[in-house]
Amino acid sequence: LISPIGRGVFGVAQPQKLQIRSEKFMKKLAVYIEEVLKEAFKACEYDENFAKVTVSNRPDLCEYQCNGAMAAAKTYRKAPIMIAGNVVEKLQENPVFESVEAVNPGFINLKVNKTFLADYLNRMLADSRLSVEEAKNPKTIVIDYGGPNVAKPLHVGHLRSAIIGESIKRMGRFLGHKVIGDVHLGDWGLQMGLIITELSKRKPELVYFDESYEGEYPKEAPFTVSELEEIYPTASGKSKTDEAYKNEALEATLQLQQGRRGYRALWKHIMEVSVNDLKKNYAKLKVDFDLWMGESDADAYIPDMVKYLKDEGYAYVDQGALVVDVKEESDTKEIPPCMILKSDGASLYNTTDLATIVQRMEDFHPDEIIYVVDKRQELHFIQVFRCAKKANMVDENTKLTFVGFGTMNGKDGKPFKTREGGVMRLERLIGEINEEMFKKIVDNRSVKDENAEKTAQMVGLSAIKYGDLSNQASKDYIFDIDRFTSFEGNTGPYILYTIVRIKSILSRYVEDGNSLEEGAIHEAVNSSEKNLMLELARFNAVIEPAFEEKAPHRICSYIYDLANAFNSFYHETRILGEEDEEKKKSWIRLLTLTKEVLETCIDLLGFDAPERM
Ligand code: ARG
Repeated sequence: LISPIGRGVFGVAQPQKLQIRSEKFMKKLAVYIEEVLKEAFKACEYDENFAKVTVSNRPDLCEYQCNGAMAAAKTYRKAPIMIAGNVVEKLQENPVFESVEAVNPGFINLKVNKTFLADYLNRMLADSRLSVEEAKNPKTIVIDYGGPNVAKPLHVGHLRSAIIGESIKRMGRFLGHKVIGDVHLGDWGLQMGLIITELSKRKPELVYFDESYEGEYPKEAPFTVSELEEIYPTASGKSKTDEAYKNEALEATLQLQQGRRGYRALWKHIMEVSVNDLKKNYAKLKVDFDLWMGESDADAYIPDMVKYLKDEGYAYVDQGALVVDVKEESDTKEIPPCMILKSDGASLYNTTDLATIVQRMEDFHPDEIIYVVDKRQELHFIQVFRCAKKANMVDENTKLTFVGFGTMNGKDGKPFKTREGGVMRLERLIGEINEEMFKKIVDNRSVKDENAEKTAQMVGLSAIKYGDLSNQASKDYIFDIDRFTSFEGNTGPYILYTIVRIKSILSRYVEDGNSLEEGAIHEAVNSSEKNLMLELARFNAVIEPAFEEKAPHRICSYIYDLANAFNSFYHETRILGEEDEEKKKSWIRLLTLTKEVLETCIDLLGFDAPERM
C-alpha cells in the first residue's frame, strides 16, 4: 500500500512519504509489549489482566516493566517471584525483547530488542503521521479561547487563554478531530456602554447621539485604535468614583442591547477598529481563530431561550430576577442559582454564555465544547454547564469542559506587571522578549545575520509559549524572562537550539552531495543511541493522553526528554565524521526522525524553529 503524501497535515513540510502500515508498528510500543506479555501470562494460565506494562521507573535497570506478578500472587497463592519466573520463561526467545528478567520480589524487567526497535522507528519515519493513530470516531469540538474584550487592550491575562487554547486545538486536529476555534469576544458588556458614554461627553455633536436622526451613519469611525484604548480606561476610571456616570453607562449598555440605532452604529465602529487590531496581535502569537463570534452574536438567541426556560419551568422569578437553580445534593460548597436576567431585564455573562451554547448546538451540534478561561471563573462555568444540562439545552452526552488556568505572576509572586507597576500589555511583553532574544542572538554570533530580527521573533515566541505551556495549566506560574529566554534548561529556546543543531547537520550532509532519503535506521550501537530511540518510540504514547487531558505540558516534558536524549547522543557520536557509510546513513535517518518528531511537537505547541540561530 503506497500513497505518497506531500505535505504534513499540520503545517510542517514533510518529504514524500511511503505509507507503510502494519498493525504492530502502529500500536504504542508499551501496548504492543503488553500484548506480548498477556500471551505469556495466558500461556502460564494466569489471568492476562495482570500483564500491565509501563515505562520503567528505573531506567538504570530496564526499559519497560511489568509488576503484575505481585498483584497475581494473592489470586494464585504463589510467591510473586515464581509467577514472574514462569512468565519470563515463556518470553526467552521472543524477538521483541533483548532481555526479560524476573527480579525479587516479583518484578519483570524488560529491555526492548534492538532490531525490533529499529524496525519500529523505520515504520514511524515512513508514516506521515509518525505512528500516531487517527481518532476512530472523530468528534466535533468547539473550543472557546482567547476571549479578549473589545476596546480593552489585550493584556497578559489573555495570553494564557490564547496560548493554551491554540495548542489544545492543534492537538485535537492532529488526532483527527474536527476542532472549531472561536475567539468569543467580550463585545456586549458594560465596556461598550462606558465607551459610548465617554464619547457622548467628548463629542456630543456626533450624529450617533441624535435620537431623531434617521439617515445613514458615516462609514468612518469617529476615533482611532489608540484613542479607543485611551477612552476605555478613562471611562472605566470615572465610573468607579462617579455613581451618576456609571448609571449612564449602564443605561447606554441596555439601550445598545435593546437596539438603539445610533449606539449600534457606534458599536460597529468600535468592533471594526478593535477587531483589526486584535487580529494583528494574535497573528504575532501564531494564534488563529476559525470564528470571530462574540457575546453579541448570542443576543438574538436570548428571547427564545428565556421563553423556553420559563415555559418549561426551569426558571423562576426571585426578587425580580430570573434564575435557574443549579445546586446539587452532593455539593460541598454552596452553588448559587444561575441568574438569567437581572430585575431590569438586562442580560448577564451567564445569559450570553447559555445563549452561545444554544447557538453552537444549532450551528455545529458539537460533541464537546471546551472553554479555556481563567480558573477564577470556575463557578460561573459550573453554573452555566449545570443549567445547560438540567434544561436539556445540550444532549445528554455533550461534554462541556472547563480548562481553567492559573495566573501568570511576576518574580515577586504577584500578578505580572510592568516595571512601573501598571498592567502589562501583550504587545509590550512580546516586544520586551524579542528585544532580549535579539541581544542574545547577536551576542552569540560572530557573523552578522540580516535575519537576526526575524529569528529573534521566532525564538522569542518559543520562550513565551514554552514558558507558559510547560507548566500544568491550572497552576499559577512565574513569568521569568531571564529563565524563559535561556538557551539552556527546560526552555523553548533550548528546544529550538536542538532542532537547529539537527538541521545544520542534515544540511551539511546534503551539501556534501548526499541524500536524506536513503538508508534505514539500524540497531543502536550504544546506550545513548538506544535511549534516543526509545524516546522517539514513545511519541504516539504521549500525544493521545496529552489531548485527552488537555495537557500541553505533557508534550513539553516529552520534548525536553527527547532533546536531552538527542544531545547526549550527539555529544558522544561523531556523526558526519563516521567512516562506515551504512552507520552514517542510519544516524542521518535517526536525526531526520528526531527532527520530525520535535517539529511536529512544537507545531502542536504553536511555534516553529528557524533555520539557524
Ligand atoms: N471575555 C472574558 C474575560 O475577559 C472571557 C471569555 C471566556 N469565554 C466565555 N465563553 N465566557 O474574562
